[in-house]
Amino acid sequence: MSSSSFHTVTIAGGTGTLGYYVSEAFLNDGSYKVKILRKKPENENEKANLLASKGAEIVYADYNQKDDLLKALKGTDVFVSTLSGSSDLYDIQCQFLEAAKEVGVKRFIPSEFGGEYKLGTHVFTDQKAKFREELEKSGLEYTYIYNGLFQEYFAYFGFDIKNKEVTFYTDGNAKISSTCMPDIAKYTVESLKIPEARNATIRVAGATLSINEYLQKFEEATGSKWKIIEDKEVRHRFQNQIDPIPSLFDDFKVVAIENGVFEKNDNKKFSFTPRPVTEAINALVKQAQ
Ligand SMILES: NC(=O)c1ccc[n+]([C@@H]2O[C@H](COP(=O)([O-])OP(=O)(O)OC[C@H]3O[C@@H](n4cnc5c(N)ncnc54)[C@H](OP(=O)(O)O)[C@@H]3O)[C@@H](O)[C@H]2O)c1
Repeated sequence: MSSSSFHTVTIAGGTGTLGYYVSEAFLNDGSYKVKILRKKPENENEKANLLASKGAEIVYADYNQKDDLLKALKGTDVFVSTLSGSSDLYDIQCQFLEAAKEVGVKRFIPSEFGGEYKLGTHVFTDQKAKFREELEKSGLEYTYIYNGLFQEYFAYFGFDIKNKEVTFYTDGNAKISSTCMPDIAKYTVESLKIPEARNATIRVAGATLSINEYLQKFEEATGSKWKIIEDKEVRHRFQNQIDPIPSLFDDFKVVAIENGVFEKNDNKKFSFTPRPVTEAINALVKQAQ
């Protein structure tokens, strides 16, 4: 399918954390009609208003009403889901898929945007893995975008800038791929122009470094030595219900870190170079001051 047959892109969750960047990138590209799909009841928000002012059409649907979804998706060539990785992601994306098939969507980019997780890895990521099976059965073209960790989320993954300490959930020499959200958005848009992205997995990375190497960059950015807290037992404690039992979210951090590395990536298939990770780290340090 050539990029010239893609005219209208509908983005579900386009006002979300990642979704906003993806919506903006499609608008900036200038070659697409961009629709932002939001769930009813209608409620204006700042990001939706901003995207509308940049030319996006905001459409609302009750995701449980097929007719409503069909109306909202009519005319869509590419459907992008940047919905949050919530517990109902599988069900909602299946509803999107059913409507997408009926209105003749040509390509479906589901909400992946992290590491590659096989079915059975974690309750959160199983929502995504189960949906991939449905998507592949549907016959619609698809692209999976994997980008490792969001660089804007380093704090969530253990880097505490304020207290200048890092929690190691795994070995410090373990490598992790990471990408900033504006670049993930650009990769998503450009994937439509890359023939190898059709029915394929695209792996991109702004950086692939060991945790120790990321730490060194945080130390350089803050001009001080950081304290290392070793907490490599989280997964073990979670799985074996040992006190203090970590939360599902803490367990997921470990899963994300352990599944967040690409030895090879597809960066070279794209026209741009991702932003250096030091820029993302410097920005985070500045924000924390
Ligand atoms: N690699 C990483 O480090 C990393 C980090 C965070 C997230 N992610 C992944 O990136 C993707 C996007 O996540 P995000 O954090 O950007 O999402 P988000 O901001 O939490 O949510 C995106 C949008 O989804 C819609 N939404 C949320 N909950 C919903 C529900 N229960 N039913 C229907 N719609 C709902 C909302 O849109 P409306 O209000 O407009 O309807 C929301 O703005 C997910 O796949 C997530 O797993 C990856």
